[in-house]
Amino acid sequence: MKHFLKETDFARSELPKLFALAHELKRSRGKRSAPRPLAGQTWAMIFSKSSTRTRVSFEVGIHELGGNPLFLNKNDIQLGRGETIEDTAKVLSRFVHGLIVRTYDHADVETLASAGSVPVINALTDFLHPCQIYADAFTMAERWAKGATGKALVDALRGRKIAFLGDTACNMANSWILGANLFGMKISLAGPKGFAPGAEIDALLGKEGFAPKAAYQFTTDPMEAVRGADVVYTDVWVSMGKEEETKERIRVMSPYAVTGKVFAAAKPDALFMHCLPAHAGEEVMPEVLASPRSIIFDEAENRLHMQKAILASLAAARRA
Ligand code: CP
Ligand code: NVA
Repeated sequence: MKHFLKETDFARSELPKLFALAHELKRSRGKRSAPRPLAGQTWAMIFSKSSTRTRVSFEVGIHELGGNPLFLNKNDIQLGRGETIEDTAKVLSRFVHGLIVRTYDHADVETLASAGSVPVINALTDFLHPCQIYADAFTMAERWAKGATGKALVDALRGRKIAFLGDTACNMANSWILGANLFGMKISLAGPKGFAPGAEIDALLGKEGFAPKAAYQFTTDPMEAVRGADVVYTDVWVSMGKEEETKERIRVMSPYAVTGKVFAAAKPDALFMHCLPAHAGEEVMPEVLASPRSIIFDEAENRLHMQKAILASLAAARRA
């Protein structure tokens, strides 16, 4: 069974086909010829955290592919009252054709995948957010290889540098470290001392065949990280589940705000990206969000097209 729990669940060799599909689904959206590979299928979405982009893009995307999205707030199903993840996976597998899960502990999506018998998509855990990284990579590639599709899109990423500032121990930082290595990009992260990427991502990098020492650079100096960067990326300083640490996080992360000065220290044509939601005036200044080189809303839109490609690929892999 093919799942999408982490970036490396698609091999490098599968990326040109996936990116071509996302490109084609974007182009054919709303046309009568648009493919409907999920016709007759229902995909359940189990969410334990808030969401705007992920929820809406998956619900709309499944519908556009001919399927039926079934949104399940964790607390509305017995999982929220202690039914096991294993039993939930086994029962839902008898009803639906796939599961999309947003939760805290990454091990929970792995358990759902191993206990169930349908494809599982990670819609964000405390550890990784792979759907976001694939949509982000597609968005950058569209800019760097205008009009291209397939292999040329994927090749446009190779050798580019991404600078990630702020909470360098969060799910987005981890996911970008793994994603950058998969796409052949370089990544420098700048954040407070106590927030260097942790043992969990190093262990995963090793497991996936990347030497952690060569896979990324970590510095406490934001100017060093952005030097020569093609993309400056940030995320909220207080991820979902970390609310009680808000005061301390804002205190230690303030030197890592993406200000106009920091953005100007990257390459002159560097792009600004953010997975959103953004807190203007905290991790990024309003002038950077509003810059013509800020592509945050293209990035958000591409969640739809890329996730439709992922859904269609997993459904096709299951039929094969
Ligand atoms: N970027 C992202 O995943 O946004 P949501 O939390 O709104 O889904
Ligand atoms: N790091 C953020 C990402 C939100 C899309 C969080 O986990 O809340």
